[in-house]
Amino acid sequence: MKYVQEFAAALYPNVKDELSLEQIEQLIEKPKYSNQGDLAFPCFSLSKTRRKAPQAIAADISGSISSPLFEKIEVVGGYLNVFLKKDVVLREVLEEILSSKQHYGDQHAGDGQVATIDMSSPNIAKPFSMGHLRSTVIGNALSLILQKNGFETVKINHLGDWGTQFGKLITAYKKWGSEEAVAAQPIKELLKLYVQFHDEAVNNPALEDEARKWFKLLEDGNEEARALWQWFRDESLKEFSGIYDLMGIEFDSFAGEAFYNDKMDVIIEQLERMNLLTSSDGAEVVKLDDQDLPPALIRKSDGATLYATRDLAAAYYRQNTYHFSKALYVVGNEQSHYFKQLKAVLKKMQFDWADEVIHIPFGMMQKDGKKMSTRKGKVVLLEEVLNESIDTVLNTINERNPELAHKEEVAKNVGVGAVVFHDLKNYRCNDIEFSLEELLRFEGETGPYVQYTHARACSLLRKGGWKEERDIQLSGVEEWSIIKELQEFPEVIRKACDKYDPSLVAKYAIDLAQTFNKYYADVRILADDEHKNDRLTLVYCVTVVLAEALRLLGVGAPKEM
Ligand code: ARG
Repeated sequence: MKYVQEFAAALYPNVKDELSLEQIEQLIEKPKYSNQGDLAFPCFSLSKTRRKAPQAIAADISGSISSPLFEKIEVVGGYLNVFLKKDVVLREVLEEILSSKQHYGDQHAGDGQVATIDMSSPNIAKPFSMGHLRSTVIGNALSLILQKNGFETVKINHLGDWGTQFGKLITAYKKWGSEEAVAAQPIKELLKLYVQFHDEAVNNPALEDEARKWFKLLEDGNEEARALWQWFRDESLKEFSGIYDLMGIEFDSFAGEAFYNDKMDVIIEQLERMNLLTSSDGAEVVKLDDQDLPPALIRKSDGATLYATRDLAAAYYRQNTYHFSKALYVVGNEQSHYFKQLKAVLKKMQFDWADEVIHIPFGMMQKDGKKMSTRKGKVVLLEEVLNESIDTVLNTINERNPELAHKEEVAKNVGVGAVVFHDLKNYRCNDIEFSLEELLRFEGETGPYVQYTHARACSLLRKGGWKEERDIQLSGVEEWSIIKELQEFPEVIRKACDKYDPSLVAKYAIDLAQTFNKYYADVRILADDEHKNDRLTLVYCVTVVLAEALRLLGVGAPKEM
């Protein structure tokens, strides 16, 4: 926050023998209670060198601090408390928002740098799980937040489209499948075939041999096998697209595991050249004991490559193609170990970018304290969750505001936004409990609450006939908590990027919405006096920042709802 810098700069000449500018900035606090000022500097750390009580030091310094932005400075205990000039700060903050609009808070740390974001990455012929939804939602928000910080991002859907299961699927399809059934409900039908394969293989081990044969044919480029694989992939992707479209999420690449089939040789050759491969029970592994990790399996005894082999090739390919300065992998907690191994192997291969390979883990979505699983019959079809959420919102609109224009569009925005926001407001590593009722509440810490606040503010602007004008003449007293909130936004953007943490943006949006609603309850915004348009300018700035915060989470901000 720039007022911290202002205060630090004013303090600096007084303490430059003891503290750097940076240290001062870090020491400055933001008091909880308004009677303690807007910023506070604790003098305790100076008392050793100065052999004086902190209180006395604060008193010494206080006289020589001044800035046109400071209203007054108080010495309380060992603290120097600064009160900012509310009217001046208010004008500065609002004018900055007015002149930058949705670019308010833009940062430049990532300028000229590329970040690849491996996200969503469901497995072909399997249901799209809650984990994939979380990865999609978190990855999309991180992409937007990184862009806001200057990065160019590349969103990659690393589809799970290769592996021995395709041999099983082809076998099952040829035995029991039908084209119409797969075309009608691809995932459901392919999953059914897969389950049937496993059930029957218990008593009929020959099926496994046949599956192995088909996978081998697939790997060798057999036409029939290839065509079936391509068809399964296309149909599955079509079904996944339903969810992506609903959420308005796009990808820059769908290069999945299969894409790396012809790109693994360089990796394996380099591993061999560097003497990093060891054989273990006929398989080839990279030993990682020195890192306290189990060995990474690179090639099975039958020569088959693995998930990890393809990921090594993918990392190498991405570096050569996109020249990333960061490669993020938004994948659940359960693969944390795996990504440690991946990074350790890349480091052993001495790639100087290996340190920039970053796993972004997240917790589980639970229902009644248990994992929402797609296996064991507990299939949670996400499109159903999203559609149920949209329907519920539509019902609410029909009750509350039946005349609303573009009802369906708004219901989609709010219904999907609710699911997305519910996911993102929690720190990503925590497990979260899924409850449709909870996430659709218009009160409390929900997406609809923030969206509703935004829409209500937009309606004030319409009702009040707001005109864009500078030279705002408000005292800042009643507006102060909103102003302080608004000027924190750039800092939130920076932190959310540094920590890869969209929840900071979601929490910020809730705080700003709550602060605004308090103002709305306390102040007659539309009262016909000379400050009306200035108050509306404040309201306008709130709508800009709320909408931008929602946008960064991948959530829409309807102007009416
Ligand atoms: N398809 C994998 C799964 O569903 C996730 C892939 C994550 N990305 C990666 N590059 N390994 O578990």
